Amino acid sequence: VSAADPSPWTLRSLLKSATQLLESRGSSSPRVDAELLLGHAVGLDRTQLYMKLDRPVSVDEREAFRALIVRRAKLEPIAYILGERGFWQHTFRVDPRVLIPRPETELLVEHTLAFVGARRDAPWRIADIGTGSGAVAISLAAELPNARIVATDISAAALIVATENAEALGVRDRIAFMRGDALEPLTRRDARVDVLVSNPPYIAPEERGALSVDVAHFEPGEALFADAGGLAVVRRILAKAPNVVVPGGLVLIEHGTSQGVATRTLAHDLGAVSTIRDYSGHDRVLRVEVPGELPETLRIGPTHVPVETSNDAKPTVIAGAHAPASTEPAADTLSRDVLEDERALQELSSLERARREARLSGLPVINLERE
Ligand SMILES: C[S@@+](CC[C@H](N)C(=O)[O-])C[C@H]1O[C@@H](n2cnc3c(N)ncnc32)[C@H](O)[C@@H]1O
Repeated sequence: VSAADPSPWTLRSLLKSATQLLESRGSSSPRVDAELLLGHAVGLDRTQLYMKLDRPVSVDEREAFRALIVRRAKLEPIAYILGERGFWQHTFRVDPRVLIPRPETELLVEHTLAFVGARRDAPWRIADIGTGSGAVAISLAAELPNARIVATDISAAALIVATENAEALGVRDRIAFMRGDALEPLTRRDARVDVLVSNPPYIAPEERGALSVDVAHFEPGEALFADAGGLAVVRRILAKAPNVVVPGGLVLIEHGTSQGVATRTLAHDLGAVSTIRDYSGHDRVLRVEVPGELPETLRIGPTHVPVETSNDAKPTVIAGAHAPASTEPAADTLSRDVLEDERALQELSSLERARREARLSGLPVINLERE
């Protein structure tokens, strides 16, 4: 695709030549890639593109398209080139500072909502560990209007992207972004949550060679790889989960397709464990229900919503085992936690902040420390 070529290019002819180029460079979806990038360059969606295939393309448009195709020809992911990716109900800004959210990660949102059931308006406290673009935390904040969410990441750069997404999608005020390893940002504050979700890095570094170029060369390594066969971060999360997740709470952790047994074993002492399969039928998410009762403020409406389904086309819970009862104190004796961002924590002591918020909102007093 040359900007200097004076021939009358149309959308159709550009699509054809770009598709051939991308195919020769190893794209697995050359036609769709070309359509998305051409649409982006000329300001049309894919449907409009098809309705105007014989529309001439200006030199400026061709030049803009050429720049995008050059990037894709090096196998840079389309989402980074376009700067966005759809996840659940929203479009998220993404760039190489964050992992591109995957469709299977929507299981974390779906199964949190299944657990919540009719109690959508309750004041859920949720942690999203390794938030990346913020896709999971923000989707949950949008679905649960009174939820307060802690979204953590080891990467400061990722937290900037997530914060911007939260602002753009109007849920920034209910998400506290915190930097740190695994559950450390929560344990440091003695915080408690009702639901803990995570899509941590879970690929063993030795498997790098098996990844496609799009992933291995472009997505952040710290979002992909973890030691101990990929399970190092999962292990650290599960080790501290009993200190963070309240009795009656839920833990959902995404993992690799071969890590179902290992993750269930690691979580066995935490509660009733099972594995959720993704839409391709692969083990994908560890699910743990912590024994006990949720705090009273959450016990309205149905207390249990089944997540199992007999339809093979749907994700299913495939294995379960009940663990010994938790040694956590009863939920009602636990203080509630205010989940605040670090800047606010510097400005106000957590208790002052909690009291101020409680006065403003009429919600029960929540604070970070146990009282
Ligand atoms: C697989 S990505 C998931 C991103 C996002 N939640 C999603 O699903 O699109 C894993 C994220 O965990 C972060 N991460 C890696 N190691 C971590 C650790 N030890 N503690 C907390 N976050 C970590 C990475 O920076 C990355 O943003």
